[in-house]
Amino acid sequence: MKIIIAENYEDGCKKGAQMFLDLLARKPDALLGLATGDTPKGLYRELIAAAGDGRADFSTARTVNLDEYFGLDGKHDQSYRYFMEQNLFNHINLKPENITIACGVAPKSEEEARMRAFFDANPIDLQLLGIGRNGHIGFNEPEARLRSSFHYTALTEDTIEANSRMFKRSEDVPRAAYTMGVGDIMKAKSVLLLAFGPSKTEAVKKMCDDFVDPWCPATVLKMHPDATLIIDRELADAAGVK
Ligand code: PGA
Repeated sequence: MKIIIAENYEDGCKKGAQMFLDLLARKPDALLGLATGDTPKGLYRELIAAAGDGRADFSTARTVNLDEYFGLDGKHDQSYRYFMEQNLFNHINLKPENITIACGVAPKSEEEARMRAFFDANPIDLQLLGIGRNGHIGFNEPEARLRSSFHYTALTEDTIEANSRMFKRSEDVPRAAYTMGVGDIMKAKSVLLLAFGPSKTEAVKKMCDDFVDPWCPATVLKMHPDATLIIDRELADAAGVK
């Protein structure tokens, strides 16, 4: 795993965005694996800026998202589809038919089958990831056994609590989600994980030791042939990463 220590959040987002811009220049119809959360917002701003001044063209690019809340329609303002529209899709020339995101209100077995068929037929070129403070990637939560394929999953209390900042009432925070499995993530040709700030210290420490630990799912990325971790200086210092 390649580790890049950026000066700060903006610098890390610029460096991450450049990987997407380089990929698109090389392969205009690349399949981009995207993520939600606070972390990737700056990277998306960089991509929007690049599209605006002619450094990027998304007209033949394709995207797929890591996960979606179970029970939320794509029009719900906390759904990940809505997040993607607000933070990226509405501002670039990506075609709606080239966007794939799980449908949070589709029946479980149908949605799992639809998304599994998609991943079987469409290899991801570059998968973007954030990381939960508990080490989750997508909604692959710490567990004794990790799931390989796209699946429905219950969320841990820690994740529900971390996500509650986005919802007015705690009873509205989704308790379950659809997510790519760790196998789907590992099959991406390249993987980029962004982590900034001290709340991710414990998870990043585990990413940088020598163990693959299902209780910190992001540690599987050590086995990926082309994984990059971008962290900021503050997190690098807190986690003891040189
Ligand atoms: P964050 O979430 O980017 O909002 O910190 C990351 C995650 O939980 O995967």
